Amino acid sequence: MSSKLIAANWKMNGSLKENVSLIEAVKIAASNSENEVLIIPPTIYIDQVHCLIKECDVKLGAQNISSQIKGAFTGETSVSMIKEFGCHYSLVGHSERRAMYGETDQLVAEKTKILIDNNIVPIICIGETKSERESGEWRNAINRQLRPILSVIGEKKLDKIVFAYEPVWAIGTGLSANAQSANEVHEYICCTISEKNDNIANALEILYGGSVNGDNVSDYLAQPYINGVLVGGASLDKDIFAKIIASK
Ligand code: PGA
Repeated sequence: MSSKLIAANWKMNGSLKENVSLIEAVKIAASNSENEVLIIPPTIYIDQVHCLIKECDVKLGAQNISSQIKGAFTGETSVSMIKEFGCHYSLVGHSERRAMYGETDQLVAEKTKILIDNNIVPIICIGETKSERESGEWRNAINRQLRPILSVIGEKKLDKIVFAYEPVWAIGTGLSANAQSANEVHEYICCTISEKNDNIANALEILYGGSVNGDNVSDYLAQPYINGVLVGGASLDKDIFAKIIASK
């Protein structure tokens, strides 16, 4: 797979004005790159970004969806709503949602199923904490997060998902995982999926996320099991993100 997926998770950042200049730079960088580019803005800016990226190849995603389909769920956004506004992807189970909003592995699995049922590609975020890494428990952490997903969505639909390996200790900290150890985890995820289905495991897309920047991105993209990156902080700087989009 030569083209990589470069995804920008804006988190709770941006403004109507800032978004316009950032998207202009993204469009120029994307048109000169073989990589696929995906913008994941806050929900309230999805419509604006959808309009700004019309007629170009840049894709759009949401940061989160409700586990409910519709109804009295104040403050929530449904899968059909993000779909109406041109989203093809949604993050699920980002570690900030797990840690700050109590999202459990089971809830992440349910949201994944809703997304697949509605033809939106879930980007499922999984990763170990600092103590799980230091105690050598990272395989258990990855397994614990994978298991409910595998049992809820079933083997046949595994080809509809993307994983993002995001070690919790590397997110927003500047402490990125080294590329070889990230690759080891990606390989482990692939092997776990191959126990269910070899063909799907071979085609599986797994992104790395956690303090990716313009200087380290190429190290990740050079790894055999890393198919792209999920970028937080560095996606908000147009020059740095343009460099990331251009990287190989
Ligand atoms: P970061 O965030 O690049 O700022 O570490 C990545 C993410 O949380 O998706």
